[in-house]
Amino acid sequence: MFKSVYSAGLAGIDGFIVTVESNSTQRLQNFEIVGLPDASVKEAKQRVRTAIENSGFLFPELDLMINLAPASRKKEGSYYDLAILAGILSVTGMIPSDIDLSDCVFIGELSLSGEVRAVNGALCLCLAAKEAGFKHIFVPYANAAEAAVVDGINVYGVKEVRELVLHLIGRQFIEKQKFDHSKFKSEFAKSSFDFSDVKGQAQVKRALEIAAAGGHNVLLIGPPGTGKSMLAKRLPTILPELTFEEAIETTKIHSISGLLPTGSSLVCQRPFRSPHHTMSATSLVGGGSMPMPGEISLAHNGILFLDELPEFPKQITDSLRQPLEDGHVTVTRTAGRFTYPSSFMLVCAMNPCKCGYYGHPTHECTCKPADIKRYLSQISGPLLDRIDIQIEVPSVSFEDMSKNVPSEPSENIRARVAKAREFALSRYKAASEEPESEIPMIYKNSEMGQRHIRRFCQLDDAASKLLAAAYERLSLSARGYDRLIRVSRTIADLDASEIIKENHVAEAIRYRTLDKKYW
Ligand SMILES: Nc1ncnc2c1ncn2[C@@H]1O[C@H](COP(=O)(O)OP(=O)(O)O)[C@@H](O)[C@H]1O
Ligand SMILES: [Mg+2]
Ligand SMILES: [Zn+2]
Repeated sequence: MFKSVYSAGLAGIDGFIVTVESNSTQRLQNFEIVGLPDASVKEAKQRVRTAIENSGFLFPELDLMINLAPASRKKEGSYYDLAILAGILSVTGMIPSDIDLSDCVFIGELSLSGEVRAVNGALCLCLAAKEAGFKHIFVPYANAAEAAVVDGINVYGVKEVRELVLHLIGRQFIEKQKFDHSKFKSEFAKSSFDFSDVKGQAQVKRALEIAAAGGHNVLLIGPPGTGKSMLAKRLPTILPELTFEEAIETTKIHSISGLLPTGSSLVCQRPFRSPHHTMSATSLVGGGSMPMPGEISLAHNGILFLDELPEFPKQITDSLRQPLEDGHVTVTRTAGRFTYPSSFMLVCAMNPCKCGYYGHPTHECTCKPADIKRYLSQISGPLLDRIDIQIEVPSVSFEDMSKNVPSEPSENIRARVAKAREFALSRYKAASEEPESEIPMIYKNSEMGQRHIRRFCQLDDAASKLLAAAYERLSLSARGYDRLIRVSRTIADLDASEIIKENHVAEAIRYRTLDKKYW
């Protein structure tokens, strides 16, 4: 007897369909799995056999050959257990041969007792099944909510082998898993942080509002305890709500990394990732012998926060350059080349000097000027080049600290951010839709290249004069000049002004702390 059933495997964040070909012959009891399986797939033999027996069925006294096709692709992990089981049940007649499994995909790991255990990446696997045209997918019960996010395929959450068999032979049905779209919307509002928690710091909050509106990377500079970490953590709450598509992309990455809490369906909030400076380059950018996304991909559509920036080795911060430019990262390993999305806003924080108190109003700095220079020179120049906004975070005055009125809530700030983004977006859309447009479509001001700057950044006379003066006085590089214009553009957008005016440029100059103060 010969039967095919289907499963799916993971390559990067994308799934691919695997055909599980099962063949049985009336000979010795031999059980083989071929088709480039790794050790954990080979071990499926033991798991499947024991799970079948412990679910009250007899394991067939036959020669069994399982081939996982295509044989050219490496099969890793324990996703295939359930499909191998279905193949065996089908080829041995335990599931009657008139029951058609050709439009079903099976995914799941088996425990020896016959329970179906959760796997990573269920969302990616389910998307692959749907795209390949399958009608039904059987996944571990713990992954059902996640898989059900995919429209256009029936998702069944399976708790144990018995339940699956009864369903397939039509004796007792597993209910289809449903996804509630309305829940997605309400989840977004549920952040435990809010800008209203932060007292004072009006200037810093304004700078973060601008950063959020233009998608600009930010560096916060200030003594310890002034609220840098506190402010950074609240940045996701003023970014526009995740769209459904963004939520799916982000969830795929968290799903294959095994970071989705059991039973959850979607990542509904923008991620905030805060890797420590001792972390390896692999955990930051991704890779490894079984390739996994790194922190920069886990931060996709959200924030990557590097606290104590000068502590990060240059080699680590330099590895951020390409992803910051491209919005994705490609890692090459023996298992293949994998591309992971990594479009994030970079937020860095640092003390102004080694002791932390340079420029502090009351606390004396014990560093020598040369030490301060050295401390700052530890920051990677190319990284700094990609940070549009640098802002000082001073210590909060007693007056502000002792106030008991909550500050403006994130929701209000987010509304202004969303409005500014729409204002910018309509400009970019209109230009890209012009016949023979040579302007590449972008979504945020931080993505503006030379062509965008030339086309979209008209300054009035006073603004031009001020910009020229700043260029001289701050001895800006060409890149520094572009950053100043980009930030001015965003400030004008928050002001709903097509023309960039003097006050917009004047404010943007304030966010060049390092140019002004130290070098
Ligand atoms: N502006 C502020 N409003 C309210 N609390 C603050 C403020 N700044 C600092 N704090 C308090 O001080 C603590 C330390 O702040 P933190 O963000 O860790 O400072 P930093 O990262 O600059 O060292 C915070 O957890 C918070 O309780
Ligand atoms: Mg901190
Ligand atoms: Zn100091």
